[in-house]
Amino acid sequence: MLEGKKIIYGITGSIAAIKAPIIARELMRRGADVHCALTDSAEKFTTAYSLSVLTKNETQTSIFPTQHSTWHIHLGRSADAMLIAPCSATTLGKLRYGIYDNPVLLLASSLKEGTPLIIAPAMDEEMWQQAAVQENVQWLRSKGVGIIDPISGALASGLSGLGRMLEPVEVVDAFEKLLTTDDRRPTIDERRLTALTGKNILITAGPTYEAIDPVRFIGNRSSGKMGAALAVVAKNDFGANVTLVMGPSHIASSALVNRIDVETTEEMRSAVMQQLSGHDIIIMSAAVSDYRIKNYSAGKLKKQTDGSAVHLDLETTTDILQEIAKYKKPSQLIIGFALESSERGEEYAQKKLAAKSLDAIVLNYFDEEGSGFSVDTNRITIYTKNGIKREFPQMSKVQCASEILSLISELVNV
Ligand code: CTP
Repeated sequence: MLEGKKIIYGITGSIAAIKAPIIARELMRRGADVHCALTDSAEKFTTAYSLSVLTKNETQTSIFPTQHSTWHIHLGRSADAMLIAPCSATTLGKLRYGIYDNPVLLLASSLKEGTPLIIAPAMDEEMWQQAAVQENVQWLRSKGVGIIDPISGALASGLSGLGRMLEPVEVVDAFEKLLTTDDRRPTIDERRLTALTGKNILITAGPTYEAIDPVRFIGNRSSGKMGAALAVVAKNDFGANVTLVMGPSHIASSALVNRIDVETTEEMRSAVMQQLSGHDIIIMSAAVSDYRIKNYSAGKLKKQTDGSAVHLDLETTTDILQEIAKYKKPSQLIIGFALESSERGEEYAQKKLAAKSLDAIVLNYFDEEGSGFSVDTNRITIYTKNGIKREFPQMSKVQCASEILSLISELVNV
């Protein structure tokens, strides 16, 4: 379908730009007449010369045309489609707000109305998850810009996570596919999208805090990273509608996720109970405080200076997971978490799976480096009520999220 088509190929500043010559060659192999444009940052990763030699067309590197080069406006107007791969977060923002200050953006701005523009964002996971970036992507998508979503995998930062651009041939496959659909939604992995697409998933994440007095609290070291990863992967990779009930955490979540911030166990309980009936799948990854202060002090407690012991009276909080099991509809799936020692983890996780009437439980470990609270990685084993046990090596929380959601997809299909 690319035979004889004039394609403008824009490359912006992301390490994934090293794949640009292979993408250009693949476009040409499929019959396209390829015209490249580079931003200054992209030139740090690939060269205009190699692209010009490959495509036999002059690569645009400036907004000011040279004596021999075509005016952007002519090139843009005569193009059949434009691909920007990789597309940096900065380019996304500029595209949204109409700031056309480099040759790639200038060409995008001079496309004739209705000419398909398809972009492949590539960046670090934290950046991809920024509310501003997600809002820009959503806005561009709503205007008909085709998005080739990034996938989870190794990133240039050395971290592993969501933000990696597809491999060159896959980018061109996705580009061709998006060119043929009226609705330019990305379908990077349709096998996965089928089971959870359109499902409503409720996820709890982070710690809960219980106040001692107006300035002090008891809490735990949970960061909310595992739950935030579940939310973004469920939304972006699996196409689910996600509600995230988040305890106190500085972790940002995608603007595409409906986020409810809470502080105490009671607030989390109340939010979960309110949301429960509208959701198909409930994943309780929050590290909920098991106790709260019985004798909360409305005034700030003064320090005891006479050396006498200070007592805090604690009472147990509601076990939210146990409570929701009582109201569970047969069609709903409930997945819990268990944070245990590596020594007796399996035994305790199995007990919680049965005691809390869960469909599955995700065991993770607090006593292993690179697992449990605050870190970017985790080691998980998943047990289902039907006797499935799936054990994984230590991997990024995003990859863990992907495996958990894959297993849930299987449970949905049963
Ligand atoms: N959980 C909950 N409400 C609580 C405590 C825990 O919903 N008040 C949920 C957690 O979100 C998690 C699961 O129960 O999905 C297991 O939590 P965990 O703290 O490991 O287990 P507990 O039942 O509290 O047992 P223990 O702390 O003794 O290990």
